Amino acid sequence: MTMQIPLMQDLDLQGLRTMIRLDLNVPIKEGVITSDARIRAAIPTIEMALDKGARVILLSHLGRPDPDALDGSFSLEPVAKHLGDLMGRSVNFCIDWLDGIPENDITLCENTRYFKGEKSNDDSLANKMASLCDVFVMDAFGASHRKHASTYGAAKASSQACIGPLLNREVEVLSQALVNPDKPLVAVIGGAKVSSKLGVIESLSKICDHIIVGGGIANTFLMASGFEIGQSLSESDMVEPARQILDLKGVNVPLPVDVITGKEFSSDAEAEIKAIDQVVGDDLILDIGPETAMIYKDVIDQCRTIIWNGPVGVFEFEQFSEGTRFLSAAIESNPGFKIVGGGDTVAVVEKYQITDSISYISTGGGAFLEFVKSGTLPILDLLKG
Ligand code: 3PG
Repeated sequence: MTMQIPLMQDLDLQGLRTMIRLDLNVPIKEGVITSDARIRAAIPTIEMALDKGARVILLSHLGRPDPDALDGSFSLEPVAKHLGDLMGRSVNFCIDWLDGIPENDITLCENTRYFKGEKSNDDSLANKMASLCDVFVMDAFGASHRKHASTYGAAKASSQACIGPLLNREVEVLSQALVNPDKPLVAVIGGAKVSSKLGVIESLSKICDHIIVGGGIANTFLMASGFEIGQSLSESDMVEPARQILDLKGVNVPLPVDVITGKEFSSDAEAEIKAIDQVVGDDLILDIGPETAMIYKDVIDQCRTIIWNGPVGVFEFEQFSEGTRFLSAAIESNPGFKIVGGGDTVAVVEKYQITDSISYISTGGGAFLEFVKSGTLPILDLLKG
């Protein structure tokens, strides 16, 4: 799929100023990086560029700062330090990088979102970024659904642009699951809102044999089937689209037959197992029930490819975590091809320690969903030529 798109691995970078856009948007609490997965995932790309003799300039965003109210939080400086520690070499950190980047082997530039024109993909900002390099490499899969100056504009403006190995691998793996999957294919789509994943579910309904829905998404589907869901998280304006998906012939969307309810959304709410037709007006559905979990496991057991995004219950609260834990175990024991994407889902995989059983863990959240929905990304369309 990416055959005609220039790849960094094919380029001669000897002596070239090589600007690599990464996604180093990692969680930082009180100055401490709480998950460095994205930093680790970026290292092979940096090492490949260094092996090719490149002078490496790294760009990334961090968080969502307001460029009009910068106060030093959202700085990438701790990331530069951590990257240097992981690589065992010095990583120069550059604050005012648009004014010029010193000639080091590796420089990490300050947060791209400190500039006003970043999110609006301002031409002059993109041109300026492009002027600081000989080759622009887009490797920030996690930010590849954004058409920002540093993810898209600079690629467009630069004299030579390509994609890096991490982005290429993400696209290859996802394409393998979406374009020519080993069937049967099941997608497990959990999370709070149908509206944020409707396009994804619609696209998946064309290729999947089964779609397992969970969380607030499942509640809206239950409403569409006429069930009482009490005070549960749901979206009434998504009931009609959900009904249309349930009516589709080619895809099976099994719905919960039992659920775990509470009377409040809290870590000490009392949990009660209820058949789906026993839910009453003041109930909150916070997990799938044991019978439903068995039905979902049966579906998962039959499948040879699994795409997973989103937990099926409030797994952060122990008494509402069993459905998600049980499905994790079912997915772990499935010998097929299994892809996981999205921050919450990666947290589930880590919590239940099934990481080693997953074929591929995407570094993307929104980008993962965007690629599943549309089968492409802005940078791929741009560089296809
Ligand atoms: C992510 O964490 O999903 C990416 O880094 C993109 O971040 P954003 O949603 O703030 O653009």
